[in-house]
Amino acid sequence: MSYQPLLEEQAIRTRVRELGKQISVDYEGKELLLVGILKGAFIFMADLIRQIEVPVTVDFVVVSSYGASTESSGVVRIDKDLEKGIEGKHVLIVEDIIDTGLTLNYLKHNLETRGPASVRICALLDKPSRRKVSVEADYLGFSIADEFVVGYGLDFAERHRHLPYVAVLSADEYRQS
Ligand code: PRP
Repeated sequence: MSYQPLLEEQAIRTRVRELGKQISVDYEGKELLLVGILKGAFIFMADLIRQIEVPVTVDFVVVSSYGASTESSGVVRIDKDLEKGIEGKHVLIVEDIIDTGLTLNYLKHNLETRGPASVRICALLDKPSRRKVSVEADYLGFSIADEFVVGYGLDFAERHRHLPYVAVLSADEYRQS
């Protein structure tokens, strides 16, 4: 196994704290609903929510897209929807990475049809060079180059999510899978 570390634990921790502070300022006086996109967002969301100082609740969706294991196909499906309605709520979607943008573009529009007070996006990572549809994070951790990254919730073939840092997966590892 060979990883090329890209974002160290400490750098992630610092950035997540900054994001939490900014979100707390922006939503002051409001109540926030964090919507995590499983599975990738679970670690980021767990750390982020502990840096948020306004009243906050959580819900999760499971979304999948079809295609090769390393690329979205464009067909997005909600496998597990929110447990409750979001009418009148301030929703912040929490995502690990924006790649083509297809997942978030679909989900954001879908949630907007349900009558929320607002829908914004908080993503840990963004690969802007890969974008196929226009979607932007309102809160972003790091913009990165087009490399296959794993760790801190992100997987390759369901593995590597447990790494406490973000690493670039080697081409060897790719090929062996
Ligand atoms: C990844 C990631 C995003 C999506 C981003 O999820 O967590 O949800 O792909 O890609 P896009 O911008 O091209 O749509 P994945 O389908 O790998 O599932 P996972 O979260 O369970 O790892």
